[in-house]
Parts: sequence; C-alpha cells; structure tokens
Amino acid sequence: MKRILITGGAGFIGSHTCVSLLENDYEVYLVDSFVNSSPIVINRILSICDLNNSNLGKNLKVFKGDLKDKVFIEDIFSNADKSGNPINGVIHFAGLKAVNESVLNPLRYWQENIFSSLNLVSVMKKYNCNLLVFSSSATVYGKESSSPIKENSYLNPSNPYGNTKLTIEKILNDLYDENSNIWKIACLRYFNPIGAHTSSLIGENPVGMPNNLFPLICNAALDNNTKLKIFGSDWDTIDGTCIRDYIHVSDVAEGHLKTLEYLNNHKTNILKMNIGTGLGTSVLELIETFSRVNKVTVDYKFTSRRDGDSKEIVADNSFSSSLLNWIPKRSLEDMCIDGWNWKKNNVNGF
Ligand code: UFG
Repeated sequence: MKRILITGGAGFIGSHTCVSLLENDYEVYLVDSFVNSSPIVINRILSICDLNNSNLGKNLKVFKGDLKDKVFIEDIFSNADKSGNPINGVIHFAGLKAVNESVLNPLRYWQENIFSSLNLVSVMKKYNCNLLVFSSSATVYGKESSSPIKENSYLNPSNPYGNTKLTIEKILNDLYDENSNIWKIACLRYFNPIGAHTSSLIGENPVGMPNNLFPLICNAALDNNTKLKIFGSDWDTIDGTCIRDYIHVSDVAEGHLKTLEYLNNHKTNILKMNIGTGLGTSVLELIETFSRVNKVTVDYKFTSRRDGDSKEIVADNSFSSSLLNWIPKRSLEDMCIDGWNWKKNNVNGF
C-alpha cells in the first residue's frame, strides 16, 4: 500500500499527517479546498522534507478542489486507476470543525460535512478503494460519559458539529455492513490535539478569532494586553478548572500512520478508536506548564462557565495502544514548547 489520498491535507492535523506519511515512504495525494487553510502549507511540508535531507517531497501531489464536487474527486480516482497505480487508501480530514459556528449555522455543517463524506465514500466504492481512516472526535461522546472514556461509552453529541461526526460514523457502519468482506475502516476519535511540528514550519492556523484554549494561551502570551478568560473556577476538579486530554499533533499524525498499517495488515473491520494520552490536565495546569517551559507570562481572569462544557474529558486509550502497539510519546512540556515556537515564528499565521 503506497498511494494515500488525504482530504483536508493542508489543515492542522492533515498537514502533520502528510509529513508522517511522506517520511514513511508513502506517496501522498493531498486534497484541499484551501477554504480554511493556506496553500503556503504545501511549501512548508516540502521544506520539512528538505530539512530531513530527503527527496520525499517528490511523493507529494496536490489537488485543489471541493469534495462536494463529485466530478473533481472522481477524476482523481479515475486518473490514478488509468495510471496503473490506484489510490490504496484515504484519510478523511476535510470538514468544518468549529463547535460555536456549528450552533450558529447547523445546516452549513450538515451540508459540508455530510455531502462531502458521501461523495468521497461513493467514489471510493466505485473505484474499489476500501481502506478509510475517518477523522472523528471525542465530541461524539455524551456529557454523561465519565472519564476515562471508553469507545463503547454512550454516544450523544451536544452540538451540530458533533452530530455530523457521529452521523458520518453511522454512514460508515452501514457501508461496512453492506459488504463486510470489503471494507477496512477506522474512525479515530481525537481528544484535544495541540502543539506543532518541531520545525515550527507547520502548526495550528485558525481562521479568525480562535475558540480553543491552546491558541488563546499563545495569544495571551504574545500580547501583554490580552487576558485569557478561564471558563469557570468552581468545577469539581483539583483546582476548580476543567480537565482535558491534550495530545501532541505529531503523535496524532503517527496514530494515523499506525492505523493505516494496522488496517492494511489485517482483515476487514470497522474500528472506533480513541486517540488521546489518557492523561488529564486542568486549564490552570496547562497555563502553568506553558508559562514555565517557555518562560512567558500568561495573564488570565476567571469568567462564568461556558455553555455546554464538561468537567472532565479524558480518553481511555487502552484499545488503541494494545491494537496498534502504539502510545503517544510526547509530553505536555513538548506540546507547550513546540506550540509556542510555532506561534512565535508565525505570529500572523500563514
Ligand atoms: N477554555 C477556557 N477559555 C477559553 C477556551 C477554552 O477556559 O477561552 C477551557 C474550556 O472551558 C475547556 C478547555 O479550555 O475546559 C478546552 O477547551 P477547548 O475549547 O480548547 O476544547 P474542548 O475540549 O471544549 O473541545 C475540543 C474541540 C472539539 C472536540 C473536543 C473533543 O474544540 O472540536 O475537544 O473533546 F470535539
């Protein structure tokens, strides 16, 4: 298995996964509309390949287009087939991912995330491409789930973004059931990916004002006039702030590589797998670690709780670690150092 198509390959997790695959001698077909990402990412991926003194950049091919355009995606599969070297598998990241925005404009989320996924899998089916890694999210779990959360926990997303992720998982279940002798599918449920590539060449590049904690910590560290708002100081946790499972984005990328290898070497299956470290960190602990390792000040103030937040969301990662024989290896310190280096070197993003 060598030729892998990555949708949303210029995004945060997508770009790191492209690097991991290229470094492991895959040929990567990077597909992106660049609506929420920048084409500059491509040059950065190529620069990382150069840094490694490798010629691996030649294995990257870029296709600009929208998955809602079925002809666009079908052309890529058809041309690969004609070349005698078909696409062997797909990692599907493309999709909208902002929780707040999904509440404000749910139909856009359904339209973008579901239509594009339906087009993709129907074209995969037509071209007998049967290996798919889908970018799901821990947001599929219900607030009722107590941490550490296992994959068989109750599923009950609390926002339209999460509903689209769970719906795509259900579509994939049905597709698998239709012909379980064909499909090799994994739905990876990410917890909280942060950090950046150690080169500082690629990292998280939110369009507009970020909503997630880590980019906001970076912004507060950059600008002494910006105070981070911590949502609630009265949660029933060690220090009153919410607990999450932060994982280095390069570990998440390697998780995709391991999943691809697993699916390729085993019989047909549909897997649902947590991608997290299994370690909980509070908001205050993350700020403390970030400030300490980077020797910066992060000003903050406490505000009221954010609607829809949960006290604690931490993965039980025993399934992924035993099945893939893989555990995330980078520490919270690494995440803070790499994430800050990326931000410092790319203050205005791409
Ligand atoms: N937080 C603050 N202040 C902020 C932003 C966040 O205190 O300005 C806190 C939140 O209350 C939460 C923690 O920081 O306790 C993390 O919040 P994020 O918004 O960074 O992340 P979430 O855990 O809420 O959600 C993330 C992704 C979702 C994904 C989910 C999976 O944004 O897309 O993890 O668990 F679905």
